[in-house]
Amino acid sequence: MQSFLRQLKTLFAPMQAVGHPASGAPTQGHGLALPEILRRPLRRLVARLSRQVALGPDDTGRIIAHYTALSVTDRTARFHGIMTAQAIADRYCTLDWTRARFLGITFFGRLLALAEIGDFGDAHEPGSEIAVSVLRGWQGVHLGERVLRAALRDVNAVHHLPAHAITRRDNIRFIRLAHKLGATGRVADGEYDAVFAAR
Ligand SMILES: CC(C)(COP(=O)(O)OP(=O)(O)OC[C@H]1O[C@@H](n2cnc3c(N)ncnc32)[C@H](O)[C@@H]1OP(=O)(O)O)[C@@H](O)C(=O)NCCC(=O)NCCS
Repeated sequence: MQSFLRQLKTLFAPMQAVGHPASGAPTQGHGLALPEILRRPLRRLVARLSRQVALGPDDTGRIIAHYTALSVTDRTARFHGIMTAQAIADRYCTLDWTRARFLGITFFGRLLALAEIGDFGDAHEPGSEIAVSVLRGWQGVHLGERVLRAALRDVNAVHHLPAHAITRRDNIRFIRLAHKLGATGRVADGEYDAVFAAR
């Protein structure tokens, strides 16, 4: 089994070296030079073998690498606007870890999916805010759903308050995912606020 996993790791390693066409920045999850017929079952297999982990300050580099590896479109969807690699590095290198938690789905240490949990910004409506992201090459195999479910379990274990996930109104992929997990939606300040009731 170990040797099989090592081979899989080697197979996926070239993905790290490929630059994103729009930014030139190194990316993960792009450039897997395999025909679709092989790629699809391999992605499913990797999703099954991946592990869920809680991340801490020592993982700051991996968190920055995950966010900068998102495609420009996905990064814009995740941060509700353009976020440069430098802005990401600045934000997470100076993060107040007493106010944020991270859950990840990893495969051989690579962060394929990430959920960031913090306080919901609206003082009149206390609760948590969750944001999720999945590397482009690993979307569509339910890693986003898995990490969001884990984040909801996490916030429900901490307090009996709703969780929010804010996204752009046109982010159909996330809005469908949120509805699938029981969120009710509302438009607030031009963005979409998916509200997960406390359980
Ligand atoms: C939104 C996102 C997290 C979804 O992750 P994913 O791993 O690709 O999604 P999953 O495979 O877990 O899909 C779960 C559900 O989401 C919905 N969904 C996912 N991709 C979809 C798509 N392309 N079209 C429509 N619905 C979609 C479906 O309801 C799906 O359930 P189903 O397969 O039973 O129909 C991912 O696309 C992403 O990282 N986007 C960029 C960042 C972002 O937008 N974050 C949200 C704001 S914080």
